[in-house]
Amino acid sequence: MYKFFRSILFLRDPEKVHHFTLKALHKALKNHRVSQWWQKKYAVENSALKTRVFGLDFKNPIGMAAGFDKNAIAYKDLELCGFGFIEIGTVTPKPQQGNPLPRLFRIKDDEAIVNRMGFNNDGVEAVAARLKTRNTPLIIGGNIGKNKETPNEDAVNDYEICFIGLFPYVDYFVVNVSSPNTPNLRELQEKEPLTKILQHLQDLNNKQPLQKPILLKIAPDLTDSQLDDIIEIVQTTKIAGIIATNTTIERKNLKTTEKKLAKIGAGGLSGKPLKERSTEVIRYLHTKSNGAFPIIGVGGIHSAKDAIEKMEAGASLVQVYTGFIYEGPQLIRNINDGLINYLAKKNKK
Ligand code: FNR
Repeated sequence: MYKFFRSILFLRDPEKVHHFTLKALHKALKNHRVSQWWQKKYAVENSALKTRVFGLDFKNPIGMAAGFDKNAIAYKDLELCGFGFIEIGTVTPKPQQGNPLPRLFRIKDDEAIVNRMGFNNDGVEAVAARLKTRNTPLIIGGNIGKNKETPNEDAVNDYEICFIGLFPYVDYFVVNVSSPNTPNLRELQEKEPLTKILQHLQDLNNKQPLQKPILLKIAPDLTDSQLDDIIEIVQTTKIAGIIATNTTIERKNLKTTEKKLAKIGAGGLSGKPLKERSTEVIRYLHTKSNGAFPIIGVGGIHSAKDAIEKMEAGASLVQVYTGFIYEGPQLIRNINDGLINYLAKKNKK
């Protein structure tokens, strides 16, 4: 059924479709009968799926990746689609509009997306106010970033504002220094500025009566030696783990013509073409660190097999975004069902 709707939705502007679908879903799921039917169709409750990672109990290990529910308006509806956790954001201290339109493009031939949204969001105050009324035990992560006009030297202040603003309302944090769509942001992945930001947030965290896990989200475009630095930084700052990966600036091995890609222009590529590289990064970090910290695997998961591949490479949890756009909520059901089968077979051995 989703494929039928998709064929109509895909005729329209991707960003408009995103907002329209969220609104329509929200309206439909307000009806108790519809939401019960929906939940039964897509959400899977099974004790085999329960996963404890960095001190948190996830009802299943499949999350919605950052960027889909930037402003914390859809997390309850996404929970009904079967997700075990939702990452809101990226949130910045001040609200910002993001880059000029158009900034979101489907690349259908490759089952991919290019986006250069540029952290359009309502700002930390508005997002925190929305989460204040949260009445679900669903695990929610807060993905935080810096405003476009904040120079990199002052970035630590922006991360602090978001960290403090969201602290009472989210279960874990993600420091996003890996979006390709905020100029020079990715330079913050270098050893010195990154250690400074993470250590500062950890110091703030340690002053709280109850600490929250802080994770770092990295780009798939880092070299092995940069990944080695990341492992060292996780260990020195003692953050809880890594999310691998964000979107890529590479345009390798695509079916889409160079002409079409050139017309779309700059942005981060997500979806199927990202799958291999993000799995490679997960495997590298997991192997090189001897599994010293948990990894959330994200990038090109469009089936249960893809999710299991990420877990076999070392991911404790996984997230999806582009796969959800192409496959719809059935993807979450398929991954959870596939995982149950996989775990049953594994435990038999
Ligand atoms: C993203 N992603 C993203 N990541 C992040 O940390 N903060 C953000 O604000 C966004 N925004 C965003 C918007 C859009 C339109 C897309 C497609 C993606 C990246 C996302 O969370 C994920 O890391 C990548 O998309 C790779 O996963 P998929 O899409 O291949 O499953």
